[in-house]
Amino acid sequence: MSKTRKEINETEKDYWNEGKLDRTKIKKLRRHAFFYSYKREKKILNTLLEDFNGQNVLEIGSYVWAAWFNENTKPEKLSCINISEVELESGKKHAATKSFPIEHYLMDANDLTFKDETFDVVFGGAILHHLDIEKSIGHIHRVLKPGGKVIFLEPLNMNPFYKIYRKMNPQERTPDEHALVSSDFKIIRDKFTFDHYFFDFFSVIFGFISLKIFGDKNYDNWINKFGYNLDVFFSKISFFHPLFARVIIYGSKK
Ligand SMILES: C[S@@+](CC[C@H](N)C(=O)[O-])C[C@H]1O[C@@H](n2cnc3c(N)ncnc32)[C@H](O)[C@@H]1O
Repeated sequence: MSKTRKEINETEKDYWNEGKLDRTKIKKLRRHAFFYSYKREKKILNTLLEDFNGQNVLEIGSYVWAAWFNENTKPEKLSCINISEVELESGKKHAATKSFPIEHYLMDANDLTFKDETFDVVFGGAILHHLDIEKSIGHIHRVLKPGGKVIFLEPLNMNPFYKIYRKMNPQERTPDEHALVSSDFKIIRDKFTFDHYFFDFFSVIFGFISLKIFGDKNYDNWINKFGYNLDVFFSKISFFHPLFARVIIYGSKK
């Protein structure tokens, strides 16, 4: 029998409050595979973040903002929600030094309690794939003002290679999360016009080779750079999009 959303939320809360995930293995690979793509991601986000200035902004599954925002990012107000007390507390520590107002709420992103048309922007990192896409996207759409913007950075689960990897490494994920597949994009497309940037296919393969050769050091090398350059080229061709591991989705409320 499939779990109810209430049961899934309890599991999510427990995993994040108790720090139950073990990502030691993937972190080593990421330091190689994502060495250059993290820089590309940062550059893209820096441009997209210009939309946040002077705006009423909501982050769901907070606190990635602390890593995304640069010294020029100044929303009028930032609201942060998370279902986990521990995750929310760690976000509060980051907030202490900021000059713009930041409010924190313990809240389920599948059931936002903000009023309709409250925010100019809703964003999140690695969060939609922990949610009921239909419910959360419905709420995000509802709380956004007309023409409001969304930015999400999410993992994808369309490449058979990643599907196998994920099955073999359940310790890296909460039991009910699901990296996005094409049916999730259809749900988002119903309510938002959006575009995307795809990251990390060849870079993962080349990053793996680089890790085997160099160990957990020397990430800035020609093997990783070659994989990254192949990714930049192939990410421009839509036929290859299902190969990629991560995506930035950015768009506007319909
Ligand atoms: C992969 S982490 C991402 C955290 C942060 N955005 C980042 O990128 O570092 C997923 C986050 O989603 C939160 N989360 C899971 N289910 C949620 C829900 N229903 N509502 C709000 N937050 C949720 C978890 O507590 C956790 O902080």
